[in-house]
Amino acid sequence: MNVWVDSDAGFDDLWAVLVARALGLEIDGLSLVFGNSSMLRVAKNATAAATVFDWSFPVFKGAATALLGTAETAERILGESGMRSRGLRLPETTGKDGPTSAFEAMAAWFQAGSRRRLLAFGPLTNVAALAIARPDLIDRIERVVWMGGGISSGNHTPAAEFNAYADPEALAALLARRVPITMVELDTCRKVRFDASDLQALFRKRGRNAALLGDLAGGYLDIALEHGHQSMAIYDPVAVAVLARPEYFSINDARVDVVLSGPERGRTVVDFQTAGDACNAKVAANPQSATVKRTCMNALLRECER
Ligand code: RIB
Ligand code: CA
Repeated sequence: MNVWVDSDAGFDDLWAVLVARALGLEIDGLSLVFGNSSMLRVAKNATAAATVFDWSFPVFKGAATALLGTAETAERILGESGMRSRGLRLPETTGKDGPTSAFEAMAAWFQAGSRRRLLAFGPLTNVAALAIARPDLIDRIERVVWMGGGISSGNHTPAAEFNAYADPEALAALLARRVPITMVELDTCRKVRFDASDLQALFRKRGRNAALLGDLAGGYLDIALEHGHQSMAIYDPVAVAVLARPEYFSINDARVDVVLSGPERGRTVVDFQTAGDACNAKVAANPQSATVKRTCMNALLRECER
């Protein structure tokens, strides 16, 4: 299956790319969006990852701000690099190499085929900008599988998940245009977790990227440990599993709305009771937690053996 990936290049985004490759998805291109950190840092991370993990697909710089011009990042939690670590880090790059226009590259990719599938791991700005400027391309989108939103609570604010909070107007624009979105939200991702024993399994590997991935995965796990949790939810890689292994989930039609103002800005409101035309999205739930986790961990372990 050929896919396009849109990403804000944090650790779980890189992990998700590894899962996509391990599950046999063919990535035709990757567009970058601000999010975990600034666009410049996201570009630095992605350029470095492309070298370290031998990415053969092109990487394009995209939106540096949300549709309305703000640039909320997760640096408060993740630091300036947008990616925590227990030691080793991705090599430093200028972030200036490589093509700049995600918009043209995505438009060309959608134009060149039909039934296009897109994996989105960050704020939806690039995808929404395309849908707004090129409505003629919308019916070429078979599905956007997006890690974002949260039914029962948020993670960036009490009400809002980060990717939804960073550009809620982008989500609203896509829902209003009936772009077929499958939302992989926090409650579902929080049922797929990894812990210190999984980390140890990475450190036992001896491949050339094992130490780096162990340190980055350790930094990711530390986010949970510092909040008193023994395990960390796996976010973006779970969205890959939803696209490539939908049988591991129940995926239901729903009405999704996003709050655009007030203290709950960015909150996603999901109604499974709505039927028919009022449904504007699908929402993944009930993951087979052990199977999905094993799928995600195997991709990391595979890279650590290389
Ligand atoms: O809320 C989790 C999401 O925010 C993940 O996509 C993570 O990479 C960040 O973008
Ligand atoms: Ca992400």
